[in-house]
Amino acid sequence: MSLRLLTPSDLLQALALSSSAGWNQTITDWQRLLDLAPETCFGIELDGRLAATATLLPYGVSLAWLGMVLTRRDYQHRGLASRLVAHTLQVAGDLGIKTLKLDATGQGQPIYEKLGFVVERRIERWVWSGEFDAQGDAGPLVPIESLAGLDYDAFGANRMRLLARLAVSGRSVNATAGTSKPVVTGDGFALWGPGHIANYVGPCVARTPEAAHSLIAGCLTQAAGTWMWDVFPDNEPGRELAGRFGFQPVRRLVRMRRGPSIAERHELVYAAAGFELG
Ligand SMILES: CC(C)(COP(=O)(O)OP(=O)(O)OC[C@H]1O[C@@H](n2cnc3c(N)ncnc32)[C@H](O)[C@@H]1OP(=O)(O)O)[C@@H](O)C(=O)NCCC(=O)NCCS
Repeated sequence: MSLRLLTPSDLLQALALSSSAGWNQTITDWQRLLDLAPETCFGIELDGRLAATATLLPYGVSLAWLGMVLTRRDYQHRGLASRLVAHTLQVAGDLGIKTLKLDATGQGQPIYEKLGFVVERRIERWVWSGEFDAQGDAGPLVPIESLAGLDYDAFGANRMRLLARLAVSGRSVNATAGTSKPVVTGDGFALWGPGHIANYVGPCVARTPEAAHSLIAGCLTQAAGTWMWDVFPDNEPGRELAGRFGFQPVRRLVRMRRGPSIAERHELVYAAAGFELG
């Protein structure tokens, strides 16, 4: 058994792992994680195959995000995920990272509890299918960099490297859906992109619920089909907005933390960036 860094040659097997768990990430999502965090994405290879993964995306030293904790079905219950997560925590400690967070499924939660993570808040996946027919004019567009201060206040750490990357190409590009255009105004931003199963809208940070409405509408008008949106139920205006657009909750997860809590403004966050990103 070898525990090692993930490399670009693992991408197809990594995608197979997330897809067989029913997750929405594309190969572009995996590629982005490897590009942003080449020294902190890990895998376990067994019998010449990628058997398990865990990724850690540092946002400076104050915070890092743990994600993509996956074990191939035929290798589960052998301690692989626990081993990978423990290794990732060790590396995070060596890097001086103070707080770790993640969004846990019911299957993942016991692993993290044993390693000292505590539940911070709930996060829900909401889904909607259809064609959004209203015009989504959010106002004059600005560069995402001009919203660095707003995002820092909302999220509690500097994630501009990620946001710039998501905004340049939209969240991702594929041949059928074309390029997804980010919607960024002086009042906030909403990004979106096609996923393995459905379009994904997020992250969205906005100064007011009205701004969030226009920004998200600006995304939904760009493509028809099924959409996913990760909502914080304790942000009542955000939950209400998702309901008004016709989305319904389909999965409940918990956001967990290990280390000191971080000052953040939950009320400004209308959509998460992704369970592996924060
Ligand atoms: C969750 C997952 C990564 C666990 O992988 P694994 O390699 O089997 O995990 P481990 O063998 O290290 O198990 C660690 C502990 O997790 C818990 N656990 C593991 N699989 C579980 C399951 N299917 N249901 C409930 N608890 C589970 C158990 O408490 C286990 O402790 P035990 O061995 O003393 O019983 C794997 O089931 C998986 O890929 N699931 C689908 C994707 C997912 O939900 N990932 C978690 C994202 S937060």
